Amino acid sequence: MNQNDLYKIVAQMMESGKGILAADESDGTAGKRLEMVHLPNEIEHRRAFRELLFTAPGIEEYLSGVILYDSTIRGETKGGVPFADVLAARGIIPGIKVDTGTVPLEGFDGEVVTEGLDGLADRFKEYYTLGARFAKWRAVITIDGDTLPSDECLEINAIMLARYAALAQAAGIVPMVEPEVIFAGNHSLQRAEEVTTRALQILFTKLRMYRVDFKGLILKTSMVLAGDMYKTPSTPEEVADSTLRTLRLGVPHDVGGIVFLSGGQAPKRATENLHAIAKMGKQPWPISSSFSRALEEPVLTAWQGKDGNIEKAQQALLYRTKMNSLAQQGKYNASEDKG
Ligand code: 13P
Repeated sequence: MNQNDLYKIVAQMMESGKGILAADESDGTAGKRLEMVHLPNEIEHRRAFRELLFTAPGIEEYLSGVILYDSTIRGETKGGVPFADVLAARGIIPGIKVDTGTVPLEGFDGEVVTEGLDGLADRFKEYYTLGARFAKWRAVITIDGDTLPSDECLEINAIMLARYAALAQAAGIVPMVEPEVIFAGNHSLQRAEEVTTRALQILFTKLRMYRVDFKGLILKTSMVLAGDMYKTPSTPEEVADSTLRTLRLGVPHDVGGIVFLSGGQAPKRATENLHAIAKMGKQPWPISSSFSRALEEPVLTAWQGKDGNIEKAQQALLYRTKMNSLAQQGKYNASEDKG
């Protein structure tokens, strides 16, 4: 592994004013997105949606990377150009989701562990030749009252993340390490803060133990906010406060960068929260976004699977990525955001 190459990729990914599109839904999850606009989960609909996203004019100004799924990195435009090449030609770095999803954690009711380590070193070699320069692994952490998550769940997921991250770096690929604390639930902001802090502290202990180079790593994390069923939603100022307190306690200063997932927040709310975080001033790490639903939902709504709507849908993507770019720089004005 050449560490400088990893650092260069991290610097490109974290360029100011840019975010990372997470278009790495598995074929099954892509079907759920298509269902929102009443489209059947057919390969051609999935392909057409990805082509629309990756060829949208102007997005290279606001996106530094796109995360792909296995079938997407092997996919191509109608004209036969591989998606990874389309992105790379525009200066957008292709990434790949490498975990294979979650399975129940036996003995721990309601908790899951993420799998995907088998054969991963060889898979990284292939993904590198297909153009991937960073790779995501998502662990899922659920809050339930005072009992979940268990420390055992946090620990086993952190070990899996550490193992994948070490293998990624050995292959010249930047790990985007994602311990997602799930937004769904009736937990308070304080509880989300406590859990996210603990999850990050355990994660970075394991990453250090397994000799992962923090400078060559990007953390993808949840914003800290009260659950979607909690009696009062957190304000952007509260989210910014809790999130930054958590990051300061949980994330070593030499980590290459931090990006947020949107987690099911409404697109505009995710942007407002990103802006509130940016307004808190300079932090030890570059901070940006890596949204999936908060970028794709407005695009799907505009598209509806119709060729005649492609331009409108691409403009919706450009608009949302621009709003997030302004927010990332602390220059966003919510009252001017047309949603
Ligand atoms: P959301 O922005 O929809 O939460 O997705 C981001 C992601 O990559 C989840 O793994």
